[in-house]
Amino acid sequence: MLAQEENTSTVRETSQYNALLDRLNHASITKHFDAYKDVAWDDPEYAIDLEDPRWIIHSANPLGATEWYQSQPEGVQARIGVHMTATFMKIGWQFESVLQRGLLEFAMSLPNGAREFRYAYHEVIEEAHHSLMFQEFVNRTGLDIPGLPQTIRFASRRVAAFGRSFPELFFLFVLGGEDPIDYEQRNFILNCKEERHPLLNRISQIHVTEEARHLSFARAYLRRNVPKLGMIKRNFLRLRTPLILGNMSRFMMEPSTQIINTYGIPKAVLREAYGDNPEHRRRVEAALGKVRDLCIELGIFARPFDQIWYRMGIAPAKS
Ligand SMILES: [Fe+2]
Ligand SMILES: [Fe+2]
Repeated sequence: MLAQEENTSTVRETSQYNALLDRLNHASITKHFDAYKDVAWDDPEYAIDLEDPRWIIHSANPLGATEWYQSQPEGVQARIGVHMTATFMKIGWQFESVLQRGLLEFAMSLPNGAREFRYAYHEVIEEAHHSLMFQEFVNRTGLDIPGLPQTIRFASRRVAAFGRSFPELFFLFVLGGEDPIDYEQRNFILNCKEERHPLLNRISQIHVTEEARHLSFARAYLRRNVPKLGMIKRNFLRLRTPLILGNMSRFMMEPSTQIINTYGIPKAVLREAYGDNPEHRRRVEAALGKVRDLCIELGIFARPFDQIWYRMGIAPAKS
């Protein structure tokens, strides 16, 4: 009787998973954006002026709230703002490049008839359009932005291989990059729409719409496959996930070394804005809230590995 119940629930879960894939695949053709057809790059309204006051960072942002930032001339404040935005875009496409390579590896491992194959290719295509938008934005600022440090770019090659050899770890990496960006962009759309640059609004709207699909697939895949893993792989996930999430959120939410050096941001200001700022810690915790909840549900956030989450500043301290 128990075995029969288990069977029924597995069949139900599989049909829900397949229905989700069908919905996502359908949405990829009905709600799809093209980087050049759907963004009016040459509209004069979309032109980028590095000293446009609309680039000035909001005082709700940790750096924008510092006295040092507010005491800079307006032109410099705007330059820092657009430089940060362009850096997040550059890092965004570098992350998407790893993601696309990993999805292609994932697709290579699938048998004929797998529904995930079509989904994975839709996602690769969508990420390619995002990367085109992000790089076009960077080019139009005229800033020469390196994005991720060389060592991280080199290490990221291994992550792509996990798409085939350890897809559960790969999809956690996906969430680690996509969830914080999604959180920041949604906040931006909700809170700052009126005062922000229309080009950034358009790119963010397109990105948030398509990322919602990527996030739902990664979550569904993990819910379906993590429970089937053995103890060794599961412990590997417990150990690596908080390290990945902690490092990724730092690159996605703090200024790069290039920005720190270009504008001479003092170490004390960085500590005030990020290192010693409980408000920033709460922001990081909130940005990773959804992926953390999923990790709790899947037993990845579990003792004694939870200590790494607290150390990395990506989980609220126990009260
Ligand atoms: Fe994307
Ligand atoms: Fe994505």
